[in-house]
Parts: sequence; structure tokens; C-alpha cells
Amino acid sequence: MLDVARRFFDLPFQERARYMSADIRAPVRYGTSFNQLNDGVLCWRDFLKLVCCDDLAAVVPSWPDAPTDLREVVSAYARSSRRLFRELMEAALEALGIRSGGAAEMLADCDAGSQMLMVNCFPACPEPDLTLGMPPHSDYGFLTVLLQDQVNGLEVRHADTWVLVDPLPGSLVVNIGDHFEMYSNGRYKSLLHRVRVNSARPRISVASLHGLPPERVIGPAPELVDDEKNPRMYMDTDFATFLDHLSSAEGKHKSFLQTRRLITN
Ligand code: OGA
Ligand code: NI
Repeated sequence: MLDVARRFFDLPFQERARYMSADIRAPVRYGTSFNQLNDGVLCWRDFLKLVCCDDLAAVVPSWPDAPTDLREVVSAYARSSRRLFRELMEAALEALGIRSGGAAEMLADCDAGSQMLMVNCFPACPEPDLTLGMPPHSDYGFLTVLLQDQVNGLEVRHADTWVLVDPLPGSLVVNIGDHFEMYSNGRYKSLLHRVRVNSARPRISVASLHGLPPERVIGPAPELVDDEKNPRMYMDTDFATFLDHLSSAEGKHKSFLQTRRLITN
């Protein structure tokens, strides 16, 4: 997967530029920074975003046809990542004590859920201290499965400092997203992370972002809320509210999760 990603970013710009789009909702989109049309400060990053869905066969023909093995390799990776998401959610629901009906309903939603692959390339940067590959953010959905090459860059926020996530060969990093924090009523915490760049080597990563179907309203699981010890901590939310947030002034200063909080402590 990392190899085909590297070969995609090595293609001549003209070839990659065929997938550039101003529409942030386009299912296949190549670009720079987060959204090069809107971002005040650009990030040192190129990306290929591929929206996957439960019917992969329907979307794969719209993916880049070069390198020639991209569709085959990336769709196999997307399927494996989806299976892993399901297994992790099964384990997490059990750990949260959500059983029978509630768990079955969630897992069915996970199976029909949304998936997006973000294939990232952070080129070597002559002035690495003046920029970031990605600014601090948390991921939007439930879980992100991240594959990174052997080049340092990913940092997570822990105890008020940035901690490097050592790339271990053959390992995946799993991040909790905003929706899982809301669903678990704060038991799982969505994690702030960022990417630093370096002057020596480019870095490649592939983030597979998993969530529930976009029309699904997300809120704390009823099993985890009660009037005494576990008051509801988040408002219900949906995808349209998130898109509104992104395009609003608030979206530039506050994380989406902050805007959904009922209780702050
Ligand atoms: C992302 C992300 C981290 C990385 O794509 O959301 O946080 O290491 N990527 O590339
Ligand atoms: Ni992220």
C-alpha cells in the first residue's frame, strides 16, 4: 500500500492534477494542504482522498488508473481496514458494556458505515520549523486506522505536550475520533494530533477514517447515560451540522467536538 502510494506521488504533476477538484465533497480528490482554496496557511502536504463505501466495486472505477495497480492494491487495503474497524468496534462495545440489541444495531451501522482513505505525502521541507504537515486536529468519525512509513512525523497531544508516535515496522496506529467520544459519552477520548515535517526525507501515510452512515444521528449510547453518575455530556449531531461548522467562522477556531459539549470540566 505504501509503495503504490509513493509511486502515485512520484507521477508527473499533470497526471496527478487530473484529480484536483475545488469541491471538498468530491469522492476522488487530489490536492495540497487541507483545502488549498480556503486555508489561510498552507500545510506541507499533498493528499489523495478516496471515498470508499460499503459497495467498493461501485466507486473503484472512478479512482486513478495510474499507477496501474493502484485500484487493486488500494481496494484490497480498504477492505482489510474495514474488517479491522469492525473487529475493533466489537471489542470496544464489549469493553463499554454495550451488549445484545444496542451492540447489534451499532455493528450493523458500522458495516454500512462511511469510510474514507486519505493517502498523504509530506515532502521533505527546507524549513521544517516554519510549517507543519498537518495542523493539530482530531478526526471526525469513530476510528482512524493509520499506516505510516518509517519516517517520524506524527505527534499526539498528551499531558500538555506533543509526543512522537514512533513508526514501528508492521504496526498500525488507531485513533479515536470525535464521534466515538460522543457515542461513548466521554469514556473514549478523541485525540488531538498533528504532523511535523523534516528536511531530510519525504513521509507517506495512509489514514482510513471510519464512521457510521452519514445520515445517522450520533449521540451518547443510552446504556452509558443515567441521571445520577453519568449525565449526558454531548448533544446529538449529524453530518449536515458538521459541514455547517466547517464552513462557519467558528470552524476556524474551535474543534467540532467542543461545539457539541453540554458539560465542560
Ligand atoms: C489524517 C492524519 C496523520 C499522518 O490524515 O487525519 O492525521 O500521520 N494523518 O499522516
Ligand atoms: Ni488525523
